[in-house]
Amino acid sequence: MGFSVCWSMWAALLLCPLYMGVSVLCEVFCDEENMSMEGGHYTLTKKLVYGSMLIYHCPEGYYPNPASTRLCQKSGTWSPPPHIRRPQKCKMIECPNPLVLESGTVSPLQMQYFVNNKTTYECYSGYTLCGSSSRVCQPNGKWSGGTPICRHDSGGENRCADPGIPAGARRSGSSFGIDDKVTYRCDEGLNLVGSKERVCQESGQWTGTEPKCYYKHTYDTALEVTEAFGSAIRESLQLAAPIDYTDQEGKKITVDKAGKLNIYIAMDISDSIEEDQFNKARNAVKKLITKVSSFAVSPNYEIIFFASDVLEVVNIIDFSGEKRKTLEQVLDDLDNFNYGDRENVGTNLNLAFKTILERMAIQKQRNETLFKEVHHVLIFFTDGAYNMGGRPEDTVAKIRETVYMNTKEERDQYLDIYVFGVGSEIFDEDIQPLVTKRDNEDHYFKLKDGAKLEETFDKIIDESKVVGLCGLHRNYDHDTADTIRVRYPWMARIGITHEDESYGKCMGSLVTPRFILTAAHCFKFTDTADKIKIKIGKNQVLTGSRLILHPNFNIKAKEKEGINEFYDYDVALIELKNDVDISIDTRPICIPCTKETSGALRLVGEEITCKQQEELLLKKIILKKSVSCHMIRTGKVVRISGAMPNLSSRIRGKIVLAWLLRDNVACKGDSGGALFKNYDDYRTIQVGLISWGTKNLCPDGNNDVKQESDDDSRDFHINLFKVVPFLKKYLGDDTRDYAPLQFLDK
Ligand SMILES: *[C@@H]1O[C@H](CO)[C@@H](O)[C@H](O)[C@H]1NC(C)=O
Ligand SMILES: *[C@@H]1O[C@H](CO)[C@@H](O)[C@H](O)[C@H]1NC(C)=O
Ligand SMILES: *[C@@H]1O[C@H](CO)[C@@H](O)[C@H](O)[C@H]1NC(C)=O
Ligand SMILES: *[C@@H]1O[C@H](CO)[C@@H](O)[C@H](O)[C@H]1NC(C)=O
Repeated sequence: MGFSVCWSMWAALLLCPLYMGVSVLCEVFCDEENMSMEGGHYTLTKKLVYGSMLIYHCPEGYYPNPASTRLCQKSGTWSPPPHIRRPQKCKMIECPNPLVLESGTVSPLQMQYFVNNKTTYECYSGYTLCGSSSRVCQPNGKWSGGTPICRHDSGGENRCADPGIPAGARRSGSSFGIDDKVTYRCDEGLNLVGSKERVCQESGQWTGTEPKCYYKHTYDTALEVTEAFGSAIRESLQLAAPIDYTDQEGKKITVDKAGKLNIYIAMDISDSIEEDQFNKARNAVKKLITKVSSFAVSPNYEIIFFASDVLEVVNIIDFSGEKRKTLEQVLDDLDNFNYGDRENVGTNLNLAFKTILERMAIQKQRNETLFKEVHHVLIFFTDGAYNMGGRPEDTVAKIRETVYMNTKEERDQYLDIYVFGVGSEIFDEDIQPLVTKRDNEDHYFKLKDGAKLEETFDKIIDESKVVGLCGLHRNYDHDTADTIRVRYPWMARIGITHEDESYGKCMGSLVTPRFILTAAHCFKFTDTADKIKIKIGKNQVLTGSRLILHPNFNIKAKEKEGINEFYDYDVALIELKNDVDISIDTRPICIPCTKETSGALRLVGEEITCKQQEELLLKKIILKKSVSCHMIRTGKVVRISGAMPNLSSRIRGKIVLAWLLRDNVACKGDSGGALFKNYDDYRTIQVGLISWGTKNLCPDGNNDVKQESDDDSRDFHINLFKVVPFLKKYLGDDTRDYAPLQFLDK
């Protein structure tokens, strides 16, 4: 089987026996012969040298069997070794046995159920079917839908409902009164994930989570993880989010909980994870913490990578005291971490937990009062095959003791341990005891590989549950009609039928569920709100109920000075008849000088001023604007300097923010569109509004053709920081039937 180069070379032959086991001098290679697999292929992580992992790949609907990976050992042999009698091949993925329904029938009856096989479920009379009446075997080895259960119509004396029997499982216990217990086990070859034992509580709920039976090749889809992990982590984040309440004198108070949430992330980088997988995993961690920050929480982070030893990338102790690490610094630390050429053959999961335990102990010792208030969330990624450092269970027990302080009942919600098992070498039964057990919340997830993690974390924000956040959007690097709506969910198109039946078009932005911000010059003196139609999101069309132009807007104001059109204060608000429905593709953008925007910029505290926001937002001068022709254009803002003398008289007004130099100019019909800046990738803040341009470079009737700017073409934008009193008067009005924005005091 295996051989080493030295054996085949004369010079080395002499040296070799003396230095046996020293891999540098006596390099060992594993053999590739007879390793191929019927129906699939394999890849090697480090060619054929010691420590390399051979990974088998099968098409969808199939899994590699008997092994999914093999490791090249020091001896030059593969572990596990290939079987002569059981040749390696791609086998069809099976779903666990669905013929476990009590008081009903399952059809069709088969020995085995493969991908795309469909089953239907019916109950005997006197029983009602709960769960799915038909299920399809999915490529991840799970049945679609939920466990079918035939529940007795009378219900009987039972306090809890029949918890059913998941596919592939057996249940013992068939009475469901208070304190009654049911236990589950899975058929041979399947591992139990979830609660092995459930007890009926007085509330009528079962403890724990529904058990599931997983084959080695069963894994959770990105969607399943998104839903389960997303809802669990949101709970933690909401506990840590700042809260507003009104005190007895009616004064609004914000309780900022910065630093009351500790997130410990530990990522397995042992050889069993390939280097490009490592980069994907790193990106996933970055995505996760950026997403977390969009909840307007500022957690403390501990980030470690582990294999046979532990590499600390971000130390949580750096978050104590005055100089808290910022999110940017954490992301930089992650970027700068070099995977390097490590010989990390082992997986010391226990050491990773021990490191976290030590960090907790330091914090607790420093200030126990503070430590008591902190919520701890541990997120582990591992391929599960821990093979050194001992069993982590005792360490996890110590972590629990440290946080619970002998009062588990009271302090239960202060600790969450999540484990993401990556790859098929994971031993579900070893990992299960490590995670937190909570009713109806999963803390253990099994992924096929790390590739989908980033996408999963991108989706953990459930739009419907974070309605209040302005400027939140999805981030995609390509524009299609669908991605545009979720990238720029505040973008509105405005159509106005003027009194003389002529029709005008403008752009606008949703700034609250009730208001659209746009340019004043879009409207004529005789226009009325009911003639304004607004299109937003996928298919919401709304009508205006009130049109409010800035009182100082007067296009003829400087006619006497030879300026025919004067565009200062070119802003308007359209109040809608009703609030729009907020969803993933319809959500307000943040505007300057509001508390909502402070949250988006993660400026916390009562003392934040408008000026601070302005400095932060206008610090970097690359801004973007939304225009109908190309949706978004990036421009470099150049401050007005009188460089174009024949324009300077027209721009003398102090309102104008800037022009965009030698850039794709806006087109007719783009007026009112937002000039904005993205913060942290997930939040958008509007800083300006497209007012006017010196030239119309878009061909008539075809705004979708990209036009190059020329030396004289400039677009001008209204600086929203200069019209805050106007915005505040209407958007901050708390006497009306709409929810007001909270403007800063100064
Ligand atoms: C590969 O398989 C063939 C046929 O079973 C066998 O003769 C040969 O020895 C095998 N080679 C190795 C290196 O195991
Ligand atoms: C179940 O799936 C297998 C494999 O795809 C297929 O051969 C078989 O016909 C399917 N059975 C039914 C009843 O659809
Ligand atoms: C410990 O933390 C509490 C709560 O945050 C704080 O009030 C107290 O001043 C801290 N004590 C020390 C010694 O830092
Ligand atoms: C503005 O100035 C440029 C050169 O600076 C000149 O070519 C152009 O004709 C002027 N435009 C007007 C309207 O005076």
